[in-house]
Amino acid sequence: MAWDQTRLLAVATLSTALVLGSLWYNDVVTVEIKWPVRGKKGISKMKTGFVAPKGIEQLIGNTPMVRINSLSDATGCEIYGKMEVQNPGGSAKDRVALAIIENAEAQNLITPHSGDMIFEGTSGSTGISLAMLCRAKGYIAHIVVPDDTSQEKVDLLENLGAVVHKVRPAGIADPKQYVNYAKAAAMEINNNPENKHRALFADQFENEANWKTHYDHTGPEIYSQISEVLPKGKTLDAFITGAGTGGTISGVSKYLKERLPHVKVVISDPPGSGFYNKVKYGVMFDLKEKEGTRRRHQVDTVVEGIGLNRITRNFSAGSDYIDDAIRVKDEESVKMAKYLVDNDGLFVGSSSAVNCVATYKYAKQLGPGHTIVTILCDSGSRHLSKFWKLAKESASIKDLSQL
Ligand SMILES: Cc1ncc(COP(=O)(O)O)c(C=O)c1O
Repeated sequence: MAWDQTRLLAVATLSTALVLGSLWYNDVVTVEIKWPVRGKKGISKMKTGFVAPKGIEQLIGNTPMVRINSLSDATGCEIYGKMEVQNPGGSAKDRVALAIIENAEAQNLITPHSGDMIFEGTSGSTGISLAMLCRAKGYIAHIVVPDDTSQEKVDLLENLGAVVHKVRPAGIADPKQYVNYAKAAAMEINNNPENKHRALFADQFENEANWKTHYDHTGPEIYSQISEVLPKGKTLDAFITGAGTGGTISGVSKYLKERLPHVKVVISDPPGSGFYNKVKYGVMFDLKEKEGTRRRHQVDTVVEGIGLNRITRNFSAGSDYIDDAIRVKDEESVKMAKYLVDNDGLFVGSSSAVNCVATYKYAKQLGPGHTIVTILCDSGSRHLSKFWKLAKESASIKDLSQL
């Protein structure tokens, strides 16, 4: 008996020591919660509000907005970036591609899973978004690109199931230019009575489904998100972004200005693009366009996705809402891209870096206490071989006055 009591005491002491020791060692006590929990009214179920999106297209839009801390702290303004990069295809072009397809379906121009095709001339984000959505919605994407488009982009499009057509680089007046080629190829299919399948030319520059989707979705999202974060008595002061087709700036500006007429809309423009002069002086002309000085690319810059030398229907739809323009040099956008990684961990593409330079400059002009929204269009990972090659090699800057 005495021996049993001693043994029991020894076991109890040892167990207590082990438990206390393990608590001290781990410093954390894990409490296991059994699920479901039985409450007074029976078993309660957790309400998360989660509804599984039905297909990838339902993941498009409703992107978050982030405070860009480094730019806000450096200027005394509240600067927010609309994270279009978080769309499933990695850019705002998912919205545009979806709108173009749904618009065409509503007009009975194309039918899913029938062998119908969608043609577009693009080496950029729209091709990726169209290729992705064509697979999801049952179409065949035909993407026409200049034959010097990087193999990286061609591979991406092909892996997304697109048929890629390569054509010789040419000016927009040339019928064999890649956008014109895509249009002609779609028309040829539709004009052939023997062809069972139909072809849609997506036409992102002129198709007004583009700016309308930004008016219907991106604009309202920005308006409601900024209303949530602004302190009482404060308002949105400016919206700043670049233009490729012009769809984003037109749709968002129209929506915002109809509700907040005081908001300043500013276009950020890379070198070689005509938008800056068009907004500032009413003339669509850049010095780099001068006879004999133009290089191979349509807009002479390392920046991809924004800048143009012609007025598109999507730009015209909102050009009256644009108040000002800021020209951004390539070296400024390269330094900004690096600065955003160094200070915010934001790895953005070239057009987003241009937007952030213009936003910083405009915030300095406005002075502290103002609120600005810009667009973070796509990720740096889409720009590794060109823009980010330069950014990687460039020295980091300590503060933004070194831009
Ligand atoms: C990466 C990127 N950023 C910005 C834009 C400009 O958007 P929008 O065409 O609405 O003017 C584009 C357009 O192609 C783009 O590809």
